[in-house]
Amino acid sequence: MKDTDFTYNIVTYGCQMNEKDSSTMAAMLDQIGGRESSRDDAQLLIFNTCCVREHAEDKVFGNVGALKKQLSERPNLIIGVCGCMMQQKGVAEKFMKKFPFVNFVMGTHNMHQLPQIVLQVVKYGERVCAVWDSEGEIIEELPLRTGKISSYVNIMFGCDNYCTYCIVPYVRGHERSRSKDAIIREVQALSESGTKEIILLGQNVNSYQGGDDRFADLLYSLNEIPGIDRIRFMTSHPKDISLALMNAMKDCDHVCKQLHLPVQSGSNEILRRMNRRYTAEIYREKVMELRQLIPDIALTTDIIVGFPGETSDDFQQTLDLVNDIRFVTGYFFKYSPRPGTPAAKFENQIDEDIKQERLATLLKLQDGITNEYNRSLIGKTLHVMPEKTADRHAGQIIGRSDGGRTVHFLGSSDLLGSTVPVTITDVTGNTLLGVIRN
Ligand code: SAH
Ligand code: SF4
Ligand code: F3S
Repeated sequence: MKDTDFTYNIVTYGCQMNEKDSSTMAAMLDQIGGRESSRDDAQLLIFNTCCVREHAEDKVFGNVGALKKQLSERPNLIIGVCGCMMQQKGVAEKFMKKFPFVNFVMGTHNMHQLPQIVLQVVKYGERVCAVWDSEGEIIEELPLRTGKISSYVNIMFGCDNYCTYCIVPYVRGHERSRSKDAIIREVQALSESGTKEIILLGQNVNSYQGGDDRFADLLYSLNEIPGIDRIRFMTSHPKDISLALMNAMKDCDHVCKQLHLPVQSGSNEILRRMNRRYTAEIYREKVMELRQLIPDIALTTDIIVGFPGETSDDFQQTLDLVNDIRFVTGYFFKYSPRPGTPAAKFENQIDEDIKQERLATLLKLQDGITNEYNRSLIGKTLHVMPEKTADRHAGQIIGRSDGGRTVHFLGSSDLLGSTVPVTITDVTGNTLLGVIRN
C-alpha cells in the first residue's frame, strides 16, 4: 500500500457518535489519498468499536479474529482498531497482544491523529498503539463528509452523568460543548453541499453549554439556516428536558416532532440505583407536558431490563409505564455488567434466563403498541423526505416521516432530499407503505 493512493473501509459498531466519527475518519483519509471501497477488497480496514454492552464487544472480537484466516489471501492488508472499546483501561494493549496482525490501535480522544498513524504504519512499518488517557480540547478543524441528504452534527462530546450501569463517561470523557458559532458554520457548510436534514448529537443535548436553555436557543438559530429542512437531535435526558426546549420544538418549523427520551426503567427504586435523577412520576409529567404542547409528537425510548436487584414488581412497573405512555418504538436491552462501572459490583445480579424472559415480554408488549401506532397512520398523509432508492423494488424510494418512521413508496430518484406528501396505505413489519398524494 502506498501512502498517497489507497483504498479503505471502516466497519462501525455502536451508536450515532461512532457513525459520525467514522464519517470524520473517512474524510480525513480522503484528504491523504484514500478512497472508500468494500470490506472485502480494501487495503486498509478500520474497526470503530463500541463497548456499551458485552455483546458489542463480542462482535468485535469475533470479526477481528476472523480476519486472521483471510491474511494469507490479503497479506498486505492493514488493520486498525479504534473507538470506545479501545479507550477502556488496558484494553488496547491486551488487544494488540491477542491479535498480533492488528497494525494499529487508537482511542476516541486522539481520533484526529488517524492520518499520522496510518502514515507511520505504512511508511515505517511500525505497529502503533496510541490511546490518550483523557480528552483534550475540542478540535474544530476536522474535515467534513459533505453532500449527504442527512448529516450528523456533534454539538457536544462526553458525559458527566455517570449512570451506574454506563461505560460511556469513562470512554468518551467529560462533557464538553462546541461553540454555537462553530456549529452554525458547520451546518451552513453542510447545507451548501446539499444536506437537507441534520441530526444533532450529544449524550445529553439538554445540558448543552451547561443547560439554562442554551440548547433551545441553538435550535432557534439552526432553524433559520437556509436549505436545512429538518432538524433532529439525540439524546435527551429526562431530568434536563425543559419547558423552553419543548417550546422550541413546537415553535421551530424545521425541528421534527420526534423525541428520543430514554426512560430506562419504570421503577423509582431502580431509577435511583441507576443514578438517573428522576422518578417515573416526573417522567410521566414531562411526557404529559410535551403532549399538551405537541399532541402528535413521536416518542421513542430506551429501557434496560434485569438491572441488579430488579424484582418482578419493579419490572411490572416498567411494563405499566410502557403500556401507559405508548411509545412509537423502543430500544430494549438486557443489563450487561461493564467493568469499572458501579452497577457491575452491585449485589443481586439477575440471572440471564430471567433477563431474557423479561426482554421477550417487553418486546412483545411494545410490538403490539408499535403495530397499533403504525396502523393508526393508514389513510393519513405524512411529510416524507426520501433519502435513497430501494434496492429490491424497482421504482421505489425510501424516506422518513417527520416522526421518524420509514416509508416506502413509488417515486423518481429526482425526489431524493425533497419533502413529499405521502398517504400511508399499508404496514409491513416496521415499514409503512404509501403513495404520493397528488
Ligand atoms: N446518553 C444516552 C444513551 C447512551 S447509551 C442516554 O443517556 O440516554 C444507549 C443506551 O444503551 C442507553 O440508553 C441504555 O438503555 C443502554 N445501555 C447503556 N449501558 C448499558 C448496559 N451496561 N447494559 C445494557 N444496556 C445499556
Ligand atoms: Fe451513559 Fe447516562 Fe451518560 Fe447516557 S446519560 S451516556 S446512559 S452515563
Ligand atoms: Fe456509542 Fe458504544 Fe461508544 S454506544 S459512545 S459507540 S460505547
